[in-house]
Amino acid sequence: MVTVNESLPALRWGIIGTGLISSWFTSDITAPRKSPKANHIIQAIGSSSLEKGKSFVSQHLPTLSPSPTVYPNYQAVYDDPNVDIIYIGTPHALHKQQCLDAIAAGKHVLCEKAFTLNASEARDVLAAAAAKNVFVMEAMWTRFHPLVATLHKVLHEEKAIGDVHRVYCDFGLDIDLASLPSTSRLRDPAMGAGSLLDIGIYALTWGLLTLDPGSAEDKPDIVAAQTLRDGFDIASSFIITYPSTGRQGILTSTMQSRTPETFLRIEGTAGYILVEGPAASLPRSFSVCPKIKLGSPPEEGRKYEFEVEGKGFYFEADAAAESISQGRKENEIMPLAETVRVMEILDEIRRQGGATFPQEEAV
Ligand SMILES: NC(=O)c1ccc[n+]([C@@H]2O[C@H](COP(=O)([O-])OP(=O)(O)OC[C@H]3O[C@@H](n4cnc5c(N)ncnc54)[C@H](OP(=O)(O)O)[C@@H]3O)[C@@H](O)[C@H]2O)c1
Repeated sequence: MVTVNESLPALRWGIIGTGLISSWFTSDITAPRKSPKANHIIQAIGSSSLEKGKSFVSQHLPTLSPSPTVYPNYQAVYDDPNVDIIYIGTPHALHKQQCLDAIAAGKHVLCEKAFTLNASEARDVLAAAAAKNVFVMEAMWTRFHPLVATLHKVLHEEKAIGDVHRVYCDFGLDIDLASLPSTSRLRDPAMGAGSLLDIGIYALTWGLLTLDPGSAEDKPDIVAAQTLRDGFDIASSFIITYPSTGRQGILTSTMQSRTPETFLRIEGTAGYILVEGPAASLPRSFSVCPKIKLGSPPEEGRKYEFEVEGKGFYFEADAAAESISQGRKENEIMPLAETVRVMEILDEIRRQGGATFPQEEAV
């Protein structure tokens, strides 16, 4: 039985797609928590087949009561009058049309990253959302992790390492691509395959979060290189440079080797910060270290640790619930202009690096 706290905002979710991320998201937002900020009800599941949808529920949401309605398609979820918001957990190439379909049915949307294949698609979605007056947010869950707000304070308010001038961030996974079917979203360019939109987007996000003041007008210069294989990028490396300050972000993604725990280093005039976690999407701690002195071993620095219950997908879900309960159409932690800015930078990296999607070539 779902325990409902009447004083908290509530959202009835319709889930589109029953793959990996939908399993993480739904089990995480429905698990009991010490201090929930919202009530999340999984109202409906849309899948390519009834059998697959039901198996998803029995595998990942076995104790939910009432059990979600399972539909053998996505449209029925958009049309369900008991659904408030659609969570889109399908390959990136499908996001635009699914967002448009959900919005046309008058539903709010939380759409997985990458929000769309490119900035043009993202703008189309946002125009439709504005016309229908519904809430839309990109599910870049890492931005909602409590570590990010503390890091921002330590970096930009306390100026614990002085002026930030350079950032290194890597998101690498060791993926045995040959063992995956050619239809896998990780291999199929028509589904948006490639390291950049899958994981490079996190490296870019950390670069933007730590280097810039967060204004959508503040566009860094970009120099990028990509390694293409079988029609998609298996590695992307890019440097973002802010002309006004000279700050640099050296940001990378690869499908060929896993990044060690320390995935991010932020350098300043008075020291540096190391951010650790199992992946760049999932930070766990950071250490603020003084400058390394020539001839002396590096000092350990002050460590900030963040234990979260479950995986932490509920931070973004709670934020969506709060914004919607206040009648807002976007959330200030992942604003729509920032989603478009991220997509524009990814477009520029691909323009320089050479990765394209078949949908774009046909245009
Ligand atoms: N936030 C994160 O940490 C995180 C982690 C992983 C992935 N993601 C994002 O989530 C999205 C989905 O990734 P995933 O790893 O969950 O993918 P996945 O395991 O392959 O699942 C995708 C699901 O989408 C549905 N789908 C519909 N048409 C499809 C098609 N033509 N090919 C493949 N699947 C199709 C399928 O569900 P049905 O058959 O039930 O319709 C499938 O199970 C991506 O945009 C990815 O970037 C985010």
